[in-house]
Amino acid sequence: MIKNGCLQCHGNNFEGTVMAPGFVETKYFWNCSELIKYLKNTSDFEKDKRVGNFKEMYRSLMPSYAELSNSERNDIAELILSIK
Ligand code: HEC
Repeated sequence: MIKNGCLQCHGNNFEGTVMAPGFVETKYFWNCSELIKYLKNTSDFEKDKRVGNFKEMYRSLMPSYAELSNSERNDIAELILSIK
């Protein structure tokens, strides 16, 4: 499953690792349609302050998932926004 790729960087429970941030606060900064765009092409968001800061904080880069279908990206976005 595609999610397993995410977990390697974002942590098994999306708690974050040295590689990438966790998702507990993500819902406060993104809405569903923006997240779908981000997953499709992360480099569109390089100028975003929050994303830019992350680039300095973490040791990996968030890959784009352009190969997924819109409905798959939508499912992932909804999952992330539901994390508490
Ligand atoms: C190679 C490591 C890596 C993988 C694999 C990865 N990410 Fe990321 N992700 C990052 C990094 C690093 C960031 C920090 C921002 C950046 O670099 O663009 C990030 C940022 C994010 C953010 C923004 C978080 C926020 O709070 O603003 C989301 C959402 C996200 N990733 C979702 C995913 C999803 C969903 C997957 C799997 C489909 C995934 N990531 C796979 C490294 C990764």
